[in-house]
Amino acid sequence: MTKQTTRRVLVPGGSGAVGEGVVRAYLAAGADVVVPTRGEQRADEFRRVLGDAATDRLHLFAHDYSTFDGAESLAATMQDRLGGIDDVVAPIGGWWAGKQLWKIGEDDWAGAFTGLATTHMAVARAVMPRLTGRGSYAIVVGESAVHPIPGSGLVSMEQAAILMMQRVLAAESGGDRRVHALVLGPVRTRLVPGEPEWVSADQVGAVAVALSDTPAATSREVLLRTGAEAEQALAGLA
Ligand SMILES: NC(=O)c1ccc[n+]([C@@H]2O[C@H](COP(=O)([O-])OP(=O)(O)OC[C@H]3O[C@@H](n4cnc5c(N)ncnc54)[C@H](OP(=O)(O)O)[C@@H]3O)[C@@H](O)[C@H]2O)c1
Repeated sequence: MTKQTTRRVLVPGGSGAVGEGVVRAYLAAGADVVVPTRGEQRADEFRRVLGDAATDRLHLFAHDYSTFDGAESLAATMQDRLGGIDDVVAPIGGWWAGKQLWKIGEDDWAGAFTGLATTHMAVARAVMPRLTGRGSYAIVVGESAVHPIPGSGLVSMEQAAILMMQRVLAAESGGDRRVHALVLGPVRTRLVPGEPEWVSADQVGAVAVALSDTPAATSREVLLRTGAEAEQALAGLA
């Protein structure tokens, strides 16, 4: 990572399973890493999880970024305090399962679709006009964005919407801003050891850092369905 000036990175959803790998990777690369979380207790827990990795470059605090106003004040504060926003990685989301689409209720719809899609949109509209152009914006989705998974249809619908948001942002930015999608298979995380061939949260973080730091990497979708694909992506960016 470039040494002259410290990279300023926003990771909404950074307290989550995939987010942990992203936050660790940017901290290890010497970046200033801003991690808002919607709960005070979650902030304390995540700081404990990070342990020694939680250096003074980590800016972890409770803040509701899931509304347009909340995301706007977050982006404005980051710009004021750190002088700008170079990169965003957004592993906002989670898993939802259990019902066929025709059996969902309004609470399912609000939680698994509207709430998540609104959070992604709120962050994108607050941050895009403020990006310095030095780094990139990366959304994180699963393969369920492109393959229907029976019983988890709301996840597929929401992830597909976010993947299209990335494509639209990339098209509307022209060459001015780099907007990526990291499309993941099942991920090995602190909580889910998974299978050896799965991509790990740390590998997702390593690819995100490499994309940030490679100006030639124009807006793109990066398939990280396995650890081997992550290694291939890293080799391609080296
Ligand atoms: N884990 C996997 O195996 C896997 C596989 C493929 C794809 N993915 C994708 O990776 C992304 C992150 O997944 P994850 O497993 O890391 O999920 P996670 O552990 O549940 O973390 C997701 C984070 O999203 C944030 N968030 C913000 N708004 C939210 C809302 N309205 N509802 C729920 N969470 C909200 C939460 O942060 P705060 O509560 O701190 O604000 C939470 O820490 C998702 O897009 C997921 O589809 C994950």
